[in-house]
Formats: sequence, C-alpha cells, structure tokens
Amino acid sequence: MSRTSDYPIRGDGATDIAAAIETGIVAGSLAAGARLPTVRDLATDLGVSPTTVANAYRSLRERGLLTANGRGGTSVTAMRPRSARRVAPPIPPHALDLARGNPDPQLLPDLRPALAAVADGLASTAGRSRKYGDGGNLPALVAALEPRLAADGLPIAPVTMVNGALDGVELALRTVVHPGDSVVVEDPGYCGLLDLLESLGLRAIPVATDDEGPLPDALTAALARRPVAAVLTPRAQNPTGAAWSSSRATELEAVLATQPQLLVIEDDPLAEVADEPLRDITAAGRDRWAYVRTLSKTLGPDLRVAALLADPTTNARVAALQQATTGWVSWLVQHLAAFLLDDADAERTRTEARRRYGERRTVFKEKLKEHGVGRCRPTGGRCARARSSGSRARRGYASRWPSSRSSRPACWQPTLRQPWPLRGATSRRSGLQELGADPPRGRATPASRRRS
Ligand SMILES: Cc1ncc(COP(=O)(O)O)c(C=O)c1O
Repeated sequence: MSRTSDYPIRGDGATDIAAAIETGIVAGSLAAGARLPTVRDLATDLGVSPTTVANAYRSLRERGLLTANGRGGTSVTAMRPRSARRVAPPIPPHALDLARGNPDPQLLPDLRPALAAVADGLASTAGRSRKYGDGGNLPALVAALEPRLAADGLPIAPVTMVNGALDGVELALRTVVHPGDSVVVEDPGYCGLLDLLESLGLRAIPVATDDEGPLPDALTAALARRPVAAVLTPRAQNPTGAAWSSSRATELEAVLATQPQLLVIEDDPLAEVADEPLRDITAAGRDRWAYVRTLSKTLGPDLRVAALLADPTTNARVAALQQATTGWVSWLVQHLAAFLLDDADAERTRTEARRRYGERRTVFKEKLKEHGVGRCRPTGGRCARARSSGSRARRGYASRWPSSRSSRPACWQPTLRQPWPLRGATSRRSGLQELGADPPRGRATPASRRRS
C-alpha cells in the first residue's frame, strides 16, 4: 500500500492499481492536481515491478486522468472518469427539461402508414430479415436525402447512413482521436457530446459562443491548444439556439483554414425543421471534414438514423469502423425513414412542426423577457439563449454544471420552472402540454381536455 495525499493505492497488477487510482478520483479522494508517488516508490510499496506501475499510470494518462510533469512527477488532471461525471441536477417537479432537445411527440409523423408500406415492401424477401453482409445504405433513402443535402450547398460526397448524430460524430472522431487528445466544443454545449468525449477519454476545449455562434478569437485561442478535432453546430445550437450568421461563418472558416488537417465535424441536428439556412464551412476545401444530419428530431428519436458526409479519407475510415462495429443501419429503419421523407402527410407534419416550434420559441422568449430573464434574441432551433442571473439559475430556470468556477465546458440544463399558459391554453397544465411536457397528474382542465 502506498500513500499520496493520504489516499491508499492498492493492487498487485496494472489493472488493479489503475482501478484503485480511478476509484480515488471518482470518490474525490484524489483531487485535480494531487501528486502520485513516483513509479519506483509505488512499485516498492506494493511489491510489484516498476513496469507494472508504469503501465497503470500510462493507461490512466491515455484516458486523460493523469498527467506526467517530467521531474514534477505524475499528477491527477481535472478530467473525471465517465462514471464520475456529475449527474445532472434533478428536474424540479413539473418543470420541463429542454436540454435533451426532445421533439414534441405530437409533431412527429404517424409511423403506421410507414410501417404498413415497409411491411408490403418486405414481399421481395418473403418477410425475412436481411443477412450479415447485405447491409449498407438503402439506395432509396440516399436518393431521398441527396437533393436535400445539395439544396443546402453541401459538397457532393458519398453519403454513409449511421445510427443517429451521436453515432456519426463518434465514428468521425474515432478516425483521428486517441485517448487524451483534445477536441474543440462550443461552450455552453450539448451534454450528450460532452459525455461522448468523456467516454472516449478525450478532453474538451471550450470555445465561448454568442448568438451568432463560436467567437472567432476564442476559436483561435482554442486551436493553439493543438486539438485534433472540432465539433460545431451551424444552426439550432443546443442549448443556446444560436445559428451562424454569414459573416461569422466566414470568420470561422478563415480561422479553421489555418489548420486544414484538423477534423471539423458539423452537427446539424434540426436541419429538417430549421428556420435558418445552413452556413456550411466544410465546403471550403478542408483536408478533413465531416457533416452529420440526423433525422431523429423529425422522424423520432426511436428511428435514430443520420446521414454522414465526409472527405474521402474520413469517409473510408468511417466505413471501416462501421463495418467493425454496428455494420449498418437496420434496413427496416432506413425503409421507414425513406418512406417518411417522401410522404406528403409526413411532410405536412414537418411543416407544421417548423411553424409550431417557431411560435413556441417566440412565446418562450417573450415570457422570459416578461419574467426579467435577461436578453434573448430570436434564433433557431428549439432552444433559446437567455442570460440569467445566478439566483434565477439556482431557482430553476436554468442550471449549469459544472459550476462557472470550473474550466470545463458547461453543460446547460435549461428548464422551465413555472410554465405559463401559452396561446389558447388556459391553465398551467395545458401550458405544459403546449410545451410538450408531461402535465402534473390530476384532473384535466376543460382546456386541456379539448386539446387532447
Ligand atoms: C446538437 C445535438 N446533436 C446531436 C443530438 C443527438 O442526435 P441523435 O439522437 O440523432 O444521436 C442532439 C439531441 O438533442 C443534439 O441536440
């Protein structure tokens, strides 16, 4: 047993020793900056070879949990193992969690006609599943997506269907990253992305954003920290709702052009219902780029399917990684998605969704203003940027974790504490329904009964 900062490290193999240190980090007994014993001292204490301890340290360094400071020894970084990530603050009763970016189920297309059409289509395989090796892209889905991607000015590149945006971002990242590498992210940013980076042992370099997207100076400073990739959201940013203005997109493109080898991943989650045009900066002839357009938000999170475009090298690596893991996106899901993209009723639902989300955003911002919750500019997506005083944030309008004292990028959890009646809704219950939240249990008001 060896002690540093009063924390006992045990174990007789590299895995046990690494696990003991990780446990100390998770429990908070080994805080950021805590120095570990030298390899030789710990090896002597534990009666193991220095190579065993060196291997344990190396595995934790690769995951970004430890850092070697030359003669300063080895110390604990500010990064927390995945299991130690602080859980999101609890959502107060009847408040609505906006951080997940969940679509309103009422504004998703009816899946039954699509399921019936797919069942008919199974005639060619006598209703049987496809086999290993039969997967890949469904040509009908790619054909439905290509004109949409071209209309947004994206480069002509082979499309790879992936299992949702996060799957696409992960596959693209894994073409370049190693544990301990750094990735540029927006701050505040999408909690799911921050969790993904942690699970891959990557460090997030936060770049401050405003209503028009990441700040060019902040991005320049972030690039100086030698990231291997950047994940950016051109519109409907989660959680702020920011969309890049064309002047900001030009500035960002110029900053990123200084590092053409950096993999720039554009995550465009709400493309199908976005009000703002796409200001794509991958088209500018970068060496490494990827663009991910998910359909989860418009077809439904249970149909997690997304299109990934990338430069030829990234594309080939993504294909190889996909082969080695999930293989392909289920053709049943791809058939459903292809049907829903072409179906007139589903298109009407998307048009209605775009209108209703826009209306709700406007009402939300007006109400925030009435409640004195900062300045709010109308931007895209289903999120809104509001500047809120700390006390309001603590009262539950929004919460940020880690706290503003942390140097890690913020994961905002915007919530509505006291939803107000919206257009046509005469009670708090129906106001919650209008915003897509589960209303509190109890008797429905006449207004909410009429609506359901
Ligand atoms: C910015 C952003 N990217 C990706 C996702 C997840 O998309 P998917 O479900 O397709 O993985 C979300 C979901 O909220 C999101 O807000």
